[in-house]
Amino acid sequence: MSQKNSRIVLVTGGAGFVGSHAVLVLLEEGYSVIVVDNLVNAYKAENEELPESLIRVMKLTGKSLIFYNINLCDKNALKEVFSKHKIGCVMHFAALKAVGESCTIPLTYYSNNITGSIILFEVMKEAGVKNLVYSSSSTVYGNPQFLPLTETHPTGQGCTNPYGKSKYFVEEILKDLASSDKSWKVISLRYFNPVGAHPSGDIGEDPAGIPNNLMPYISQVAVGRQPKLLVYGNDYETHDGTGVRDYIHIMDLAEGHNYALKKLFSQDFSGFKAYNLGTGCGYSVLDVVKAFSAASGRKIAYDIVGRREGDIASSYCDSTLAFKELGWKANRLLTDMCADAWRWQSKNPNGFQ
Ligand SMILES: NC(=O)c1ccc[n+]([C@@H]2O[C@H](COP(=O)([O-])OP(=O)(O)OC[C@H]3O[C@@H](n4cnc5c(N)ncnc54)[C@H](O)[C@@H]3O)[C@@H](O)[C@H]2O)c1
Repeated sequence: MSQKNSRIVLVTGGAGFVGSHAVLVLLEEGYSVIVVDNLVNAYKAENEELPESLIRVMKLTGKSLIFYNINLCDKNALKEVFSKHKIGCVMHFAALKAVGESCTIPLTYYSNNITGSIILFEVMKEAGVKNLVYSSSSTVYGNPQFLPLTETHPTGQGCTNPYGKSKYFVEEILKDLASSDKSWKVISLRYFNPVGAHPSGDIGEDPAGIPNNLMPYISQVAVGRQPKLLVYGNDYETHDGTGVRDYIHIMDLAEGHNYALKKLFSQDFSGFKAYNLGTGCGYSVLDVVKAFSAASGRKIAYDIVGRREGDIASSYCDSTLAFKELGWKANRLLTDMCADAWRWQSKNPNGFQ
């Protein structure tokens, strides 16, 4: 077994939205980064070796990285990566994430997100790499029993779709793994709603097809790629009747991973621990429409339609645990999220292509 180096981080799914911003922060912090991504949801030009997001990350940071086009389910290929590098830690972003699609092809989601994760953990164990930061989600809380959501809120109850369940199941697997072998150190970061882009506007969220999430949808309306936004329900018990969510700037979220990594390698840390990454503020759909309109100077056309099944009125977190134990808190405002999302969208109307 080769010697491990805590400054070498393997990032799964590093070509995607959250992963690429986290890779940028890691490179800026002086880590060596190895990305494993099968490009199922990331764009690479035919004549390039690397996906476009990572080419731009290298330009922005002036640093290089190593990229492998590998599916996590390919155990042998993954083993080879671990045998070649002295990996000290893994950040695990790779997953399929479209809620609606997960209800249509649940087996694909379970196989990719759960089997892929198990294979990764097996390979890590065999290689003696037992430090992990996992991308979890506020969806593990299901329908909130109280607000703001703290890490003590029950998880797994009322997870209504295979995507959300896959995030919950992997957390449970990690808890079992960490209690079976005390040398594992695992931090699960429960993201609320990551939005925005790097302030350069050179990397950002590039959804394939019609966007599932609010901010990319609004920015595509602003840039003329979608005719109008559909607002699902204005009769919720919120300040203006539309759904309220905790939006977090992608750079705050990416920086949270760096804080988690520092915690993971601190003397006092062991076992499994989950942290909420959000701002703790809830904004409604109409608040976001208004803020985006102000940031872009464009009118955002929208229609109010009926509620969507499975949607909840409000979700926002208490993020004080992350502040107390990781020393992290979100600093950027909704105006920054909209301004940066708009810069990315207007500089790249067709995303990375
Ligand atoms: N974006 C959000 O709103 C959000 C919210 C909560 C949690 N998360 C979690 O954060 C993580 C990253 O999300 P994202 O928004 O960056 O998604 P993304 O689709 O942009 O990035 C995921 C990346 O993983 C890769 N990938 C998927 N399956 C793979 C496999 N089997 N092998 C190798 N690579 C694979 C994709 O090609 C893609 O580049 C996911 O685990 C997601 O569940 C995202």
